[in-house]
Amino acid sequence: MDSLTLTRPDDWHLHLRDGDALRAVLPDTARQFARAIVMPNLRPPVRSVADAAAYRQRILDALPPGLPFEPLMTLYLTDNTSADDIHHARASGFVHAVKYYPAGATTNSDSGVTDLQRCEAVFDALQDTGMPLLMHGEVTDPNVDIFDREAVFIERHLLRVAEQFPRLKIVLEHITTAQGAQFVAQSREGIGATITAHHLLLNRNAIFAGGLRPHAYCLPVLKRETHRQALVAAAISGNPKFFLGTDSAPHARHTKEADCGCAGLYTAHSAMALYAEAFEHAGALHRLEGFASFHGPDFYRLPRNQTQICLQREVWTVPAELPFGEATLVPMRAGESVAWRLSPAAV
Ligand code: NCD
Ligand code: ZN
Ligand code: ZN
Repeated sequence: MDSLTLTRPDDWHLHLRDGDALRAVLPDTARQFARAIVMPNLRPPVRSVADAAAYRQRILDALPPGLPFEPLMTLYLTDNTSADDIHHARASGFVHAVKYYPAGATTNSDSGVTDLQRCEAVFDALQDTGMPLLMHGEVTDPNVDIFDREAVFIERHLLRVAEQFPRLKIVLEHITTAQGAQFVAQSREGIGATITAHHLLLNRNAIFAGGLRPHAYCLPVLKRETHRQALVAAAISGNPKFFLGTDSAPHARHTKEADCGCAGLYTAHSAMALYAEAFEHAGALHRLEGFASFHGPDFYRLPRNQTQICLQREVWTVPAELPFGEATLVPMRAGESVAWRLSPAAV
């Protein structure tokens, strides 16, 4: 198979940033995806419907003419989010989910939730509205080994939340472990997970290949090979609980190549090509469309897209760096090849 035509996919977990950075990265996503769930971890975070409306307009204003793209907005859950905020968000029509970050777990998460017990009224409201709760599923306890933080989050928190709020829709974001995949596969209806291209293609050796590699550092951190294999098995299984979320998370080069470098991989420049590689290695290209284009809208109860994209088998070299406002960023596979390429002839 040398070309692959798919229903236009959506990205169910994306960081677009703001300002010049937003203008630099948005076209990469809009070329491939019809919609994306836009993460709210700006500084300051997107906390209210008014914040989300303003950010949504900045995204639309940053779109190159002729590229149709719909940003699906999210609110950043804090200790002070109220049930009213949730009802207001649902009524807006453009806020599609609420994002839970444990305080301090990842980039710009210092306003995150300090204690899940404080969120009960919000979770009740989410259940009633049917709006999903998106979770960065890691504990922040410094005594827990960084490679175990996802599995421990499931044991300590997620099992209880899922049981205590039986109608709450939950997406365990960017799963990285066999435990994450297994929890989602075995859980009740209404619990799903996004999987990134980088966690399907890389294991933790990438962080230390020949030296310390800041551009392979993300959160949750890459895990050992057995976990990567479990994620591939989940992604290609055809189980509608698993769907595409790139977690493309651009950071300026100098902020990653630093004493205390930022977490996040930039993958939006060739996201669909990278997913195609992962599915092809697993002999499951026929499962890519369900994962990339159907399972996400079905979970969010949004219509599937009507247009298509086409990928060609063509080896090409990813640039060593890309413009990022005043700075540059180093994309995944910088200076190396990718086996598929998005065809400009979108249908
Ligand atoms: C994300 C970011 O940079 O905003 N970083 C990352 O490593 N994934 C935050 C996140 O998704 O946790
Ligand atoms: Zn996260
Ligand atoms: Zn993210």
